[in-house]
Amino acid sequence: MNTNTLNTALNGSNHNHKAVNPFYEDVLKGLTSAPKRLDSKYFYDAIGDQLFQDLMNCEEYYPTNCELDIFKNQTAALAKSIIGNGDDFDLIELGAGDAMKSSYLLKYLLDEGVNFTYLPIDISSHVIEELDTNLTKTLPGLNFQGLNGEYFQMLQKAATLSNKRKVVLFLGSNIGNMPVADAEAFCGELKNNLSTGDMVLIGFDLKKNPKTVLAAYNDKEGITKKFNLNLLTRINTELGADFNVNQFDHYPTYDPETGSCKSYLISLIDQKVHIADYNESIHFKKDEYIYMEISQKFSIEQTKDMAAKTGFEIVNYLMDSKQWFADAIWRVQ
Ligand code: AVJ
Repeated sequence: MNTNTLNTALNGSNHNHKAVNPFYEDVLKGLTSAPKRLDSKYFYDAIGDQLFQDLMNCEEYYPTNCELDIFKNQTAALAKSIIGNGDDFDLIELGAGDAMKSSYLLKYLLDEGVNFTYLPIDISSHVIEELDTNLTKTLPGLNFQGLNGEYFQMLQKAATLSNKRKVVLFLGSNIGNMPVADAEAFCGELKNNLSTGDMVLIGFDLKKNPKTVLAAYNDKEGITKKFNLNLLTRINTELGADFNVNQFDHYPTYDPETGSCKSYLISLIDQKVHIADYNESIHFKKDEYIYMEISQKFSIEQTKDMAAKTGFEIVNYLMDSKQWFADAIWRVQ
């Protein structure tokens, strides 16, 4: 379904052409809340995607390299765990991106002659198209079925496409972008969308030296700062706002007790920001913060509790050589 068309139709009937932009609705809700907040899922416009690429290449940001270490150097162990008793399966990836890490697993499975279909799910149709062209070239013989849409809707779609066993990849510690209670609810919903014997492979960034964690979200080059400020620029571009990004500072924090790494933007002056397209204005007090992102760090124990509480049994855990990151493989009970 084309959502643009649907929105236009709705707008036509209620004469309110501004009411149906979910980005605006979320921004307004967040910036009129106390305390103010924005949703980090909106970081990823074209510029944000590029900044995230830059982050993954910077010295301090370790999670991607750690998980890549696992996928490159422990491919056989990963494959063995998900192959299980050997029946054909569908390998589904939530938020596949460029599938850099998973392509090591895909290649290994193909070389071993394993029968499986790869179904990447992404909210961006561009991502799915790119994967389709690139993977069919680099991994000839790969059974590929891209799914463009929301995670749970597409999981349900995948269930209608085949009745093969499902293995769901959720990598990169993307689960850390939810507060712990939400992450647990997410695992529960995942379980409800799967069947007994299906598996998930979830990447968790682990608690470690607090300085290491904080440095990853406070890089010297200031890429993380730009990554956060870019959301204000995105609001300017897409909603006609007039944020002056020079009047906001980036404040990253890490609390070793809770494992919560959080990013804030701090208003440096008393200021009013207009959202011209919607005729709204938002007031910021000097030193007022906007809560931008959580990147939760976990203990292995905590992830195992989460599995037990949400109906999964542990299959295997694989860690990088530094023991900084874990890929957990769980099976639906
Ligand atoms: C892509 C969500 C895993 O939270 O570590 C990187 C995003 N934020 N630097 C993370 C991010 C700041 C990243 N995830």
